[in-house]
Amino acid sequence: MPAPPQDARSRVARVVRCTPCGADAFVLELDPGEELAPVRASRFFMLRREDGTSPLVPRPFSLYRQQRGNLEFLIKAMGRGTRALVSAPAGSKVRLIGPLGNGWPTIDGDGPDWVMLAGGVGSAPFWMGIEQAQQGMDGKTPVRKQQVHLLFGAASSDLLYDFKGLAGLGVSAHAATMDGSHGHRGHVLSLLAQLQASGKVPERVRLLACGPERMLEATAHLAFERGWDAWLSMETWMGCGVGICNGCPIPTRAGGPRAGWPNVKCCVEGPVFHVREVDLARRVGAPT
Ligand SMILES: Cc1cc2nc3c(=O)[nH]c(=O)nc-3n(C[C@H](O)[C@H](O)[C@H](O)COP(=O)(O)OP(=O)(O)OC[C@H]3O[C@@H](n4cnc5c(N)ncnc54)[C@H](O)[C@@H]3O)c2cc1C
Ligand code: FES
Repeated sequence: MPAPPQDARSRVARVVRCTPCGADAFVLELDPGEELAPVRASRFFMLRREDGTSPLVPRPFSLYRQQRGNLEFLIKAMGRGTRALVSAPAGSKVRLIGPLGNGWPTIDGDGPDWVMLAGGVGSAPFWMGIEQAQQGMDGKTPVRKQQVHLLFGAASSDLLYDFKGLAGLGVSAHAATMDGSHGHRGHVLSLLAQLQASGKVPERVRLLACGPERMLEATAHLAFERGWDAWLSMETWMGCGVGICNGCPIPTRAGGPRAGWPNVKCCVEGPVFHVREVDLARRVGAPT
């Protein structure tokens, strides 16, 4: 049975500040009380307030940024758990379990260009993904800035959480909004098609995607059609985050590298999966 990562710990962190970001999200900055080793982008933590305001079950969040020893999370206010976290006063205590999960694959500068597809708050794991790829991951060649194309999609411009900051990391960055209020009108995959048609993005690419279920399904479909490598950072409901509760199954793909078992556990075997590993069409009741 897959085990939780060896570097995962349960700690009590202190809220440093919680800053609004876009129309409905916040950046929650926590002081974990001790310096953590650099965390791979797209790994996550389970968070819960310690004062009884949060539901008993902690909620999972990708690490957004790790700087000055503090951990930042980009949190979209959805229900009770997220609303409790984004209203936590400075100095209050938050239970922090992690780092959990696997994180992005090695984003290197040796093969085809990378296209990062971010949908809404699915942009969270890309800030550090860009930084780490530029520094060089796992001893591999660092990416050059123009080898990475960030395509950030949202319903409207106020949901493009700090797009300016992400674009400021120097990669080729493009926005898409469904209402046309910023950038391309439409979704990120139609933006990708447009950028490829105009020669701004090469024909052969590698994809990293995080966002709503339908965006991930469409990404997987495109990757199969074109024969591209693609990795998806998946979301499921999570009860424990450490492999015990069986609350986070994702069906495996018939004939794929994980086909020996009907499901993978998103928390300990993911949240990042190659498209050949999972079958999104067979998922039931996934967050949308
Ligand atoms: C690995 C991982 C990383 C994540 N990273 C982030 C992140 O960086 N920032 C962020 O804002 N959110 C992230 N999420 C989603 C976040 O965990 C949920 O939004 C949160 O659990 C909702 O809790 P709640 O109590 O506020 O909402 P609930 O009261 O539990 O639910 C409110 C609404 O949110 C929907 N919902 C619940 N859980 C999820 C979910 N996992 N995904 C999508 N919709 C959900 C429900 O269907 C319901 O409509 C991540 C989830 C996973 C699994
Ligand atoms: S969340 Fe409990 S097993 Fe994955």
